[in-house]
Amino acid sequence: MALANSSLVTIDDLSNGEIEGLFSLTDKMAGAMNEQFGICRGKIMASLFFEPSTRTRLSFETAMHRLGGSVITAADIGATSLSKGESIADMARVVGSYADIIVIRHPWEGAAKVVADYAGVPVINAGDGGHQHPTQTLCDLYTIKKERQSIKGLKIALWGDLKYGRTIHSLIFALAKFGADILFFPSPGLEVPEHVIKKLIIEYGGELEKYAALGQTVKDGLFPLDAIYQTPSSPHQLAMMSDINIEVELKTGVDALYVTRPQRERFTAGEENQELKESYPVVDKRLLKGKAFRKTLVMHPLPRVDELAYEVDADPRSIYFKQAARGVPIRMALLALLLGTRQLSIPGEDDSFSQPTDYPVYRRDSGISCPNPRCVSIQKTETKYIKPEFKVVDRQPLTLRCIYCEHGFEPEYVASSDWHEGKLANKKYHRADSHWAKKIRAENLIIFDSGSNAEAHGFKPSQSVSAEQRRNSDAEQK
Ligand code: CP
Repeated sequence: MALANSSLVTIDDLSNGEIEGLFSLTDKMAGAMNEQFGICRGKIMASLFFEPSTRTRLSFETAMHRLGGSVITAADIGATSLSKGESIADMARVVGSYADIIVIRHPWEGAAKVVADYAGVPVINAGDGGHQHPTQTLCDLYTIKKERQSIKGLKIALWGDLKYGRTIHSLIFALAKFGADILFFPSPGLEVPEHVIKKLIIEYGGELEKYAALGQTVKDGLFPLDAIYQTPSSPHQLAMMSDINIEVELKTGVDALYVTRPQRERFTAGEENQELKESYPVVDKRLLKGKAFRKTLVMHPLPRVDELAYEVDADPRSIYFKQAARGVPIRMALLALLLGTRQLSIPGEDDSFSQPTDYPVYRRDSGISCPNPRCVSIQKTETKYIKPEFKVVDRQPLTLRCIYCEHGFEPEYVASSDWHEGKLANKKYHRADSHWAKKIRAENLIIFDSGSNAEAHGFKPSQSVSAEQRRNSDAEQK
């Protein structure tokens, strides 16, 4: 198996076997760091960082230098022609004609996919907005494996900003893929987005139990336990567990506590005003005295701000600086594999818990666009060439997932391309949750984000939509 010429945009792009193979190569490189020079001689890496970075950028650049390759870099969007209105696709084509591989960090979700679609060379996503950060996840998984030998069956607690933390989103899927149980401790208001949860449940086969708040965890100074994801390989099934049993589960110990900072740069104005800082508990010596954390690895993708006290740096459970240092050999191995200067050797069987799902794709031009304001597909410079495209991940309720940023949403109205039989009077649109909508075959589905949009496309409201419109109009007049 070879990874040469492929891109890494989301953690789903790598199978468990490929990740294990990458880790084997990382071990070899980490054990003889100074002997790798020359592996990528003559290769050029473009390092494009349009959001701040210390670890990811400098570890990628260090990795390429250690492999004997060269680096070209742009670390300020204002110093590139993107600031003159150039599209990401045009930039990708040009940089792809200069460099052999591109590493990109960009604030727009799905930007790395666009670069991968147009560059013609391998592309590595170094963080696209709040979407994913797959190479950080490789560092995280590698660290857990080095410290605990296996990921399967471990209990990993995710702490803090689970809404905007891109490292969290990639890590959730990776942990599920390797059969870990996940405990969600979000800062209130910063819970894991619904579309991430939906994907986790549908595509990774485990069970998710949601909780309001557990008195015990609040008492211990933790964020409330919001939910537990239990892998299908887990001996206990959640259906049999009461809150009391979960408290017992917690007391058996958490294998790793993955702390994240509040991602303030992505907060909405409302969230910024919500005094989230005051309600963000600090992981400190006192908290780590709790029984659940006796043997817990304390991890953090860094940078930290106030959520992780400096006093725990000397604690042997704290491994976040080791985690960051491992970024260099991990990224050396990844660059060598994607550039095809090293081959993948996959140890053992690929025992992934992910269940690849072949969803129908919706790409009709019916005026529907991704509702995520940070999605690359709706940005002014990109709409000239990006055609919105969605996976139909559910029919009840109808749920679309943008192929760029992976946000999920439930559109309001649908119609069928084969029901009107040429008669304009029959060309009706329906509520997406109506019994008519459920009868429409996937290949005939036309989806609208508003009634006015459906009408602009020549469709008339069905009886139930008209009744709904009358009710809304009456309510407005009152
Ligand atoms: N963990 C991480 O992505 O750090 P940087 O933002 O410093 O690259």
